[in-house]
Amino acid sequence: MIKVAVNGYGTIGKRVADAILKQPDMRLIGISKTTPNYEALIAYRKGINIYVPQQSFKKFEEAGIVPAGSVEELIKNADIVVDATPNGVGAQYKTIYRQFDRNAIFQGGEKADVADISFSALCNYNDAINKKYIRVVSCNTTALLRTICTMSKVSRVEKVRATIVRRAADPKEVKKGPINSLSPDPATIPSHHAKDVNSVIKNLDIITMAVVAPTTLMHMHFLDITLKDRVDKKDIIEVLSNTPRLVLISSKYDANSTAELMEIARDLRRDRNDIPEVMVFEDSIYVKDNEVMLMYAVHQESIVVPENIDAIRASMGLMSADESIKITNTSLGILKGYLI
Ligand SMILES: NC(=O)c1ccc[n+]([C@@H]2O[C@H](COP(=O)([O-])OP(=O)(O)OC[C@H]3O[C@@H](n4cnc5c(N)ncnc54)[C@H](OP(=O)(O)O)[C@@H]3O)[C@@H](O)[C@H]2O)c1
Repeated sequence: MIKVAVNGYGTIGKRVADAILKQPDMRLIGISKTTPNYEALIAYRKGINIYVPQQSFKKFEEAGIVPAGSVEELIKNADIVVDATPNGVGAQYKTIYRQFDRNAIFQGGEKADVADISFSALCNYNDAINKKYIRVVSCNTTALLRTICTMSKVSRVEKVRATIVRRAADPKEVKKGPINSLSPDPATIPSHHAKDVNSVIKNLDIITMAVVAPTTLMHMHFLDITLKDRVDKKDIIEVLSNTPRLVLISSKYDANSTAELMEIARDLRRDRNDIPEVMVFEDSIYVKDNEVMLMYAVHQESIVVPENIDAIRASMGLMSADESIKITNTSLGILKGYLI
Protein backbone atom coordinates (compact mmCIF):
# COMPACT_ATOMS: atom_id res chain seq x y z
CA MET A 1 0.00 0.00 0.00
CA ILE A 2 1.36 3.44 -0.96
CA LYS A 3 1.14 5.93 1.91
CA VAL A 4 -0.40 9.12 0.54
CA ALA A 5 -0.72 12.51 2.25
CA VAL A 6 -2.97 15.32 1.02
CA ASN A 7 -1.61 18.78 1.74
CA GLY A 8 -4.36 21.39 1.23
CA TYR A 9 -7.88 20.13 1.95
CA GLY A 10 -10.17 22.39 -0.08
CA THR A 11 -12.27 21.79 -3.21
CA ILE A 12 -9.71 19.52 -4.88
CA GLY A 13 -7.92 18.15 -1.80
CA LYS A 14 -11.05 16.75 -0.13
CA ARG A 15 -12.14 14.99 -3.31
CA VAL A 16 -8.69 13.52 -3.93
CA ALA A 17 -8.59 12.36 -0.29
CA ASP A 18 -11.93 10.55 -0.67
CA ALA A 19 -10.75 9.00 -3.94
CA ILE A 20 -7.56 7.72 -2.25
CA LEU A 21 -9.73 6.04 0.40
CA LYS A 22 -11.38 4.03 -2.42
CA GLN A 23 -8.11 2.74 -3.96
CA PRO A 24 -7.06 -0.87 -3.27
CA ASP A 25 -3.35 0.03 -3.39
CA MET A 26 -3.28 3.32 -1.44
CA ARG A 27 -3.63 4.40 2.17
CA LEU A 28 -4.57 7.96 3.11
CA ILE A 29 -2.30 8.66 6.07
CA GLY A 30 -3.75 12.12 6.67
CA ILE A 31 -4.53 15.59 5.42
CA SER A 32 -3.33 19.05 6.42
CA LYS A 33 -5.49 21.94 7.63
CA THR A 34 -4.36 25.39 8.66
CA THR A 35 -7.76 26.55 9.99
CA PRO A 36 -10.12 24.53 12.21
CA ASN A 37 -13.17 25.27 10.05
CA TYR A 38 -16.18 23.13 9.05
CA GLU A 39 -14.12 21.18 6.51
CA ALA A 40 -11.61 20.23 9.21
CA LEU A 41 -14.35 19.18 11.65
CA ILE A 42 -16.19 17.01 9.10
CA ALA A 43 -12.94 15.32 8.00
CA TYR A 44 -12.05 14.71 11.66
CA ARG A 45 -15.48 13.17 12.34
CA LYS A 46 -14.94 10.89 9.32
CA GLY A 47 -11.85 9.55 11.08
CA ILE A 48 -9.29 11.22 8.81
CA ASN A 49 -6.01 12.16 10.55
CA ILE A 50 -5.61 15.96 10.57
CA TYR A 51 -2.09 17.40 10.59
CA VAL A 52 -1.70 21.10 11.36
CA PRO A 53 1.05 23.73 11.65
CA GLN A 54 2.93 23.30 14.95
CA GLN A 55 1.78 26.71 16.23
CA SER A 56 -1.92 25.89 15.57
CA PHE A 57 -2.28 22.80 17.79
CA LYS A 58 -4.04 24.74 20.59
CA LYS A 59 -6.47 26.43 18.17
CA PHE A 60 -7.53 23.05 16.75
CA GLU A 61 -7.86 21.42 20.17
CA GLU A 62 -10.11 24.30 21.30
CA ALA A 63 -12.32 23.58 18.28
CA GLY A 64 -12.63 19.92 19.33
CA ILE A 65 -10.18 18.60 16.73
CA VAL A 66 -7.19 16.69 18.11
CA PRO A 67 -4.32 16.98 15.58
CA ALA A 68 -2.47 13.80 14.63
CA GLY A 69 0.76 15.78 14.29
CA SER A 70 2.46 18.60 12.44
CA VAL A 71 2.38 19.19 8.67
CA GLU A 72 6.10 18.29 8.53
CA GLU A 73 5.32 14.94 10.22
CA LEU A 74 2.56 14.30 7.67
CA ILE A 75 5.01 14.80 4.82
CA LYS A 76 7.72 12.73 6.53
CA ASN A 77 5.30 9.81 7.13
CA ALA A 78 4.13 9.67 3.50
CA ASP A 79 5.57 7.99 0.41
CA ILE A 80 4.02 10.70 -1.74
CA VAL A 81 2.18 13.99 -1.17
CA VAL A 82 -0.72 15.31 -3.22
CA ASP A 83 -0.38 19.07 -2.95
CA ALA A 84 -3.77 20.77 -3.36
CA THR A 85 -2.90 24.06 -1.70
CA PRO A 86 -3.93 27.37 -3.34
CA ASN A 87 -2.20 28.61 -6.51
CA GLY A 88 1.49 29.23 -5.92
CA VAL A 89 1.57 27.79 -2.37
CA GLY A 90 2.52 24.36 -3.71
CA ALA A 91 5.74 25.76 -5.17
CA GLN A 92 6.66 27.01 -1.68
CA TYR A 93 6.05 23.54 -0.20
CA LYS A 94 8.30 21.93 -2.79
CA THR A 95 11.31 22.86 -0.62
CA ILE A 96 9.90 20.71 2.20
CA TYR A 97 9.01 17.80 -0.09
CA ARG A 98 12.55 17.93 -1.38
CA GLN A 99 13.99 18.18 2.15
CA PHE A 100 12.22 14.91 3.12
CA ASP A 101 12.88 13.38 -0.31
CA ARG A 102 9.18 12.81 -0.97
CA ASN A 103 7.48 12.54 -4.37
CA ALA A 104 4.74 15.10 -4.96
CA ILE A 105 1.76 15.69 -7.23
CA PHE A 106 1.01 19.38 -7.85
CA GLN A 107 -2.13 21.00 -9.29
CA GLY A 108 -2.75 23.19 -12.32
CA GLY A 109 -2.62 26.43 -10.33
CA GLU A 110 1.15 25.97 -10.08
CA LYS A 111 3.45 27.00 -12.90
CA ALA A 112 4.47 24.14 -15.18
CA ASP A 113 8.11 24.33 -14.08
CA VAL A 114 7.20 23.28 -10.52
CA ALA A 115 7.25 19.67 -11.76
CA ASP A 116 9.24 17.34 -13.99
CA ILE A 117 6.18 16.85 -16.19
CA SER A 118 2.66 18.20 -16.73
CA PHE A 119 0.19 15.33 -16.77
CA SER A 120 -2.98 14.15 -18.44
CA ALA A 121 -3.63 10.43 -17.96
CA LEU A 122 -5.11 9.76 -21.41
CA CYS A 123 -2.26 11.63 -23.13
CA ASN A 124 1.07 11.06 -21.40
CA TYR A 125 0.81 8.70 -18.40
CA ASN A 126 3.70 6.52 -19.55
CA ASP A 127 6.03 9.54 -19.87
CA ALA A 128 5.30 10.36 -16.21
CA ILE A 129 6.32 6.96 -14.82
CA ASN A 130 8.90 7.38 -12.01
CA LYS A 131 8.84 11.19 -12.26
CA LYS A 132 9.35 12.58 -8.76
CA TYR A 133 7.26 15.72 -9.32
CA ILE A 134 4.15 15.64 -11.50
CA ARG A 135 1.73 18.50 -12.16
CA VAL A 136 -1.87 17.58 -12.97
CA VAL A 137 -3.02 20.31 -15.36
CA SER A 138 -6.04 22.51 -14.56
CA CYS A 139 -9.69 21.51 -14.94
CA ASN A 140 -10.08 23.24 -18.32
CA THR A 141 -6.79 21.88 -19.64
CA THR A 142 -7.64 18.37 -18.41
CA ALA A 143 -10.90 18.49 -20.39
CA LEU A 144 -9.18 19.84 -23.50
CA LEU A 145 -6.45 17.21 -23.36
CA ARG A 146 -8.81 14.29 -22.70
CA THR A 147 -10.87 15.32 -25.72
CA ILE A 148 -7.94 16.05 -28.04
CA CYS A 149 -6.13 12.79 -27.17
CA THR A 150 -9.36 10.86 -27.67
CA MET A 151 -9.88 12.46 -31.11
CA SER A 152 -6.32 11.55 -32.04
CA LYS A 153 -7.37 7.88 -31.91
CA VAL A 154 -9.51 8.57 -35.02
CA SER A 155 -6.99 10.65 -36.97
CA ARG A 156 -3.98 12.87 -36.33
CA VAL A 157 -5.02 16.18 -34.73
CA GLU A 158 -3.63 19.00 -36.91
CA LYS A 159 -5.23 22.07 -35.35
CA VAL A 160 -7.42 23.01 -32.38
CA ARG A 161 -9.43 26.19 -31.82
CA ALA A 162 -11.37 26.41 -28.55
CA THR A 163 -13.57 28.89 -26.71
CA ILE A 164 -13.93 28.38 -22.98
CA VAL A 165 -16.78 29.78 -20.90
CA ARG A 166 -15.39 29.58 -17.39
CA ARG A 167 -17.42 29.40 -14.19
CA ALA A 168 -16.68 32.46 -12.07
CA ALA A 169 -16.25 30.64 -8.76
CA ASP A 170 -16.74 27.29 -7.06
CA PRO A 171 -20.10 26.90 -5.27
CA LYS A 172 -18.58 27.38 -1.79
CA GLU A 173 -16.73 30.60 -2.70
CA VAL A 174 -18.73 33.58 -1.41
CA LYS A 175 -16.32 36.40 -2.19
CA LYS A 176 -15.60 35.87 -5.89
CA GLY A 177 -17.28 37.31 -8.97
CA PRO A 178 -18.43 38.61 -11.35
CA ILE A 179 -22.08 38.26 -10.37
CA ASN A 180 -23.52 40.10 -13.38
CA SER A 181 -21.06 40.29 -16.23
CA LEU A 182 -19.41 38.35 -19.00
CA SER A 183 -15.72 39.24 -19.00
CA PRO A 184 -13.07 38.05 -21.41
CA ASP A 185 -10.56 36.50 -19.00
CA PRO A 186 -7.87 36.87 -20.05
CA ALA A 187 -8.79 39.56 -22.59
CA THR A 188 -5.91 38.43 -24.76
CA ILE A 189 -5.75 35.65 -27.34
CA PRO A 190 -4.57 32.96 -26.95
CA SER A 191 -5.62 32.43 -23.34
CA HIS A 192 -3.16 30.58 -21.09
CA HIS A 193 -5.05 27.31 -21.69
CA ALA A 194 -3.38 26.84 -25.09
CA LYS A 195 0.09 27.10 -23.56
CA ASP A 196 -0.99 24.67 -20.85
CA VAL A 197 -2.13 22.13 -23.45
CA ASN A 198 1.28 22.58 -25.11
CA SER A 199 2.94 21.69 -21.80
CA VAL A 200 1.65 18.15 -22.48
CA ILE A 201 1.36 17.99 -26.30
CA LYS A 202 4.32 20.01 -27.56
CA ASN A 203 3.99 21.73 -30.95
CA LEU A 204 0.21 21.23 -31.26
CA ASP A 205 -1.34 24.12 -33.20
CA ILE A 206 -3.88 25.31 -30.63
CA ILE A 207 -5.48 28.70 -29.95
CA THR A 208 -7.86 29.22 -27.03
CA MET A 209 -10.09 32.09 -25.91
CA ALA A 210 -11.81 32.39 -22.55
CA VAL A 211 -14.66 34.33 -21.00
CA VAL A 212 -15.68 34.21 -17.35
CA ALA A 213 -19.42 33.85 -16.67
CA PRO A 214 -21.49 34.36 -13.50
CA THR A 215 -22.13 30.69 -12.71
CA THR A 216 -20.60 28.25 -10.24
CA LEU A 217 -21.73 24.91 -11.66
CA MET A 218 -19.52 23.98 -14.59
CA HIS A 219 -17.42 25.31 -17.44
CA MET A 220 -18.50 24.95 -21.08
CA HIS A 221 -16.13 24.45 -24.02
CA PHE A 222 -16.73 25.01 -27.73
CA LEU A 223 -14.17 23.03 -29.68
CA ASP A 224 -13.19 23.04 -33.35
CA ILE A 225 -10.66 20.35 -34.22
CA THR A 226 -9.07 19.84 -37.63
CA LEU A 227 -7.99 16.26 -38.21
CA LYS A 228 -5.59 14.95 -40.83
CA ASP A 229 -8.23 12.73 -42.48
CA ARG A 230 -11.88 13.07 -43.44
CA VAL A 231 -14.09 11.48 -40.78
CA ASP A 232 -17.76 10.66 -40.29
CA LYS A 233 -19.84 11.76 -37.33
CA LYS A 234 -20.33 8.08 -36.44
CA ASP A 235 -16.52 7.67 -36.05
CA ILE A 236 -16.52 10.52 -33.54
CA ILE A 237 -19.50 9.17 -31.62
CA GLU A 238 -17.92 5.73 -31.58
CA VAL A 239 -14.59 6.89 -30.16
CA LEU A 240 -16.32 9.08 -27.57
CA SER A 241 -18.63 6.21 -26.57
CA ASN A 242 -15.72 3.83 -26.12
CA THR A 243 -13.47 6.07 -24.05
CA PRO A 244 -14.07 6.20 -20.30
CA ARG A 245 -13.86 9.69 -18.75
CA LEU A 246 -15.78 11.21 -21.68
CA VAL A 247 -19.53 10.71 -21.65
CA LEU A 248 -22.24 11.61 -24.15
CA ILE A 249 -25.42 13.32 -23.12
CA SER A 250 -28.38 12.91 -25.43
CA SER A 251 -30.80 15.79 -25.96
CA LYS A 252 -33.73 13.35 -26.07
CA TYR A 253 -33.77 13.37 -22.26
CA ASP A 254 -34.02 17.19 -22.08
CA ALA A 255 -30.67 17.76 -20.41
CA ASN A 256 -29.13 20.60 -22.38
CA SER A 257 -27.62 22.72 -19.64
CA THR A 258 -25.12 22.60 -16.82
CA ALA A 259 -28.00 23.03 -14.37
CA GLU A 260 -29.67 19.85 -15.61
CA LEU A 261 -26.37 17.95 -15.61
CA MET A 262 -25.91 18.81 -11.95
CA GLU A 263 -29.49 17.71 -11.27
CA ILE A 264 -28.71 14.35 -12.92
CA ALA A 265 -25.64 14.00 -10.69
CA ARG A 266 -27.89 14.67 -7.68
CA ASP A 267 -30.54 12.21 -8.89
CA LEU A 268 -27.86 9.57 -9.46
CA ARG A 269 -26.70 10.26 -5.88
CA ARG A 270 -23.14 10.76 -6.99
CA ASP A 271 -20.73 11.72 -4.19
CA ARG A 272 -20.88 15.52 -3.75
CA ASN A 273 -22.87 15.64 -7.06
CA ASP A 274 -19.55 15.22 -8.84
CA ILE A 275 -19.18 14.57 -12.58
CA PRO A 276 -15.52 13.75 -13.24
CA GLU A 277 -16.27 12.82 -16.86
CA VAL A 278 -16.20 15.35 -19.73
CA MET A 279 -19.90 15.75 -20.65
CA VAL A 280 -20.26 15.96 -24.44
CA PHE A 281 -23.60 17.21 -25.80
CA GLU A 282 -24.20 14.55 -28.45
CA ASP A 283 -26.30 16.74 -30.77
CA SER A 284 -23.60 19.42 -30.80
CA ILE A 285 -21.20 17.12 -32.67
CA TYR A 286 -20.84 18.49 -36.18
CA VAL A 287 -18.47 17.07 -38.78
CA LYS A 288 -17.48 18.64 -42.09
CA ASP A 289 -14.80 16.73 -43.99
CA ASN A 290 -11.83 16.67 -41.60
CA GLU A 291 -13.22 19.27 -39.19
CA VAL A 292 -15.02 18.28 -35.98
CA MET A 293 -16.96 20.70 -33.77
CA LEU A 294 -18.50 19.92 -30.44
CA MET A 295 -19.66 21.39 -27.13
CA TYR A 296 -19.10 19.88 -23.72
CA ALA A 297 -19.44 20.76 -20.05
CA VAL A 298 -16.70 20.38 -17.45
CA HIS A 299 -17.29 19.93 -13.71
CA GLN A 300 -14.35 21.92 -12.44
CA GLU A 301 -14.51 20.59 -8.87
CA SER A 302 -14.06 16.93 -9.78
CA ILE A 303 -12.60 16.47 -13.27
CA VAL A 304 -8.98 16.34 -12.10
CA VAL A 305 -9.60 13.75 -9.36
CA PRO A 306 -9.02 10.60 -11.47
CA GLU A 307 -5.90 12.20 -12.98
CA ASN A 308 -4.50 12.81 -9.49
CA ILE A 309 -4.98 9.14 -8.62
CA ASP A 310 -3.26 8.01 -11.83
CA ALA A 311 -0.46 10.53 -11.27
CA ILE A 312 0.26 8.93 -7.87
CA ARG A 313 0.69 5.50 -9.50
CA ALA A 314 2.76 6.92 -12.35
CA SER A 315 5.09 8.79 -9.98
CA MET A 316 5.59 5.71 -7.81
CA GLY A 317 6.23 3.61 -10.94
CA LEU A 318 3.60 1.07 -9.95
CA MET A 319 1.95 0.12 -13.22
CA SER A 320 1.19 1.03 -16.80
CA ALA A 321 -1.35 3.60 -17.96
CA ASP A 322 -3.98 1.03 -18.94
CA GLU A 323 -3.80 -0.79 -15.60
CA SER A 324 -3.95 2.36 -13.49
CA ILE A 325 -6.74 4.01 -15.50
CA LYS A 326 -8.82 0.84 -15.22
CA ILE A 327 -8.44 0.62 -11.43
CA THR A 328 -9.16 4.33 -11.02
CA ASN A 329 -12.25 4.20 -13.23
CA THR A 330 -13.66 1.12 -11.49
CA SER A 331 -13.01 2.38 -7.96
CA LEU A 332 -14.50 5.81 -8.68
CA GLY A 333 -17.44 4.58 -10.77
CA ILE A 334 -16.34 6.55 -13.82
CA LEU A 335 -18.53 5.98 -16.85
CA LYS A 336 -18.09 5.57 -20.57
CA GLY A 337 -20.82 5.80 -23.18
CA TYR A 338 -23.87 7.74 -22.02
CA LEU A 339 -24.39 9.57 -18.73
CA ILE A 340 -27.94 8.19 -18.55
N1 LIG B 1 -11.37 24.52 -7.75
C1 LIG B 1 -11.17 24.18 -8.99
O1 LIG B 1 -12.06 24.34 -9.81
C2 LIG B 1 -9.87 23.60 -9.43
C3 LIG B 1 -9.89 22.73 -10.53
C4 LIG B 1 -8.69 22.16 -10.96
C5 LIG B 1 -7.51 22.50 -10.33
N2 LIG B 1 -7.52 23.38 -9.27
C6 LIG B 1 -6.25 23.69 -8.64
O2 LIG B 1 -6.15 22.95 -7.43
C7 LIG B 1 -5.39 23.70 -6.47
C8 LIG B 1 -6.25 23.86 -5.24
O3 LIG B 1 -7.41 24.59 -5.58
P1 LIG B 1 -8.76 24.49 -4.75
O4 LIG B 1 -9.82 25.06 -5.61
O5 LIG B 1 -8.93 23.13 -4.18
O6 LIG B 1 -8.44 25.54 -3.60
P2 LIG B 1 -9.21 25.71 -2.25
O7 LIG B 1 -10.58 25.20 -2.31
O8 LIG B 1 -8.98 27.13 -1.82
O9 LIG B 1 -8.40 24.75 -1.27
C9 LIG B 1 -7.07 24.96 -0.90
C10 LIG B 1 -6.96 24.68 0.57
O10 LIG B 1 -5.61 24.79 0.96
C11 LIG B 1 -5.58 25.19 2.32
N3 LIG B 1 -4.39 26.00 2.55
C12 LIG B 1 -4.21 27.32 2.37
N4 LIG B 1 -2.95 27.66 2.67
C13 LIG B 1 -2.32 26.52 3.04
C14 LIG B 1 -1.01 26.22 3.47
N5 LIG B 1 -0.07 27.17 3.57
N6 LIG B 1 -0.72 24.92 3.79
C15 LIG B 1 -1.65 23.94 3.68
N7 LIG B 1 -2.90 24.19 3.30
C16 LIG B 1 -3.23 25.46 2.96
C17 LIG B 1 -6.87 25.98 2.59
O11 LIG B 1 -7.52 25.43 3.73
P3 LIG B 1 -7.05 25.79 5.22
O12 LIG B 1 -6.12 26.96 5.13
O13 LIG B 1 -8.34 26.09 5.93
O14 LIG B 1 -6.41 24.55 5.70
C18 LIG B 1 -7.75 25.69 1.38
O15 LIG B 1 -8.99 25.13 1.73
C19 LIG B 1 -5.02 25.00 -7.17
O16 LIG B 1 -3.75 24.83 -7.77
C20 LIG B 1 -6.07 25.14 -8.24
O17 LIG B 1 -5.66 25.93 -9.33
C21 LIG B 1 -8.69 23.91 -8.80
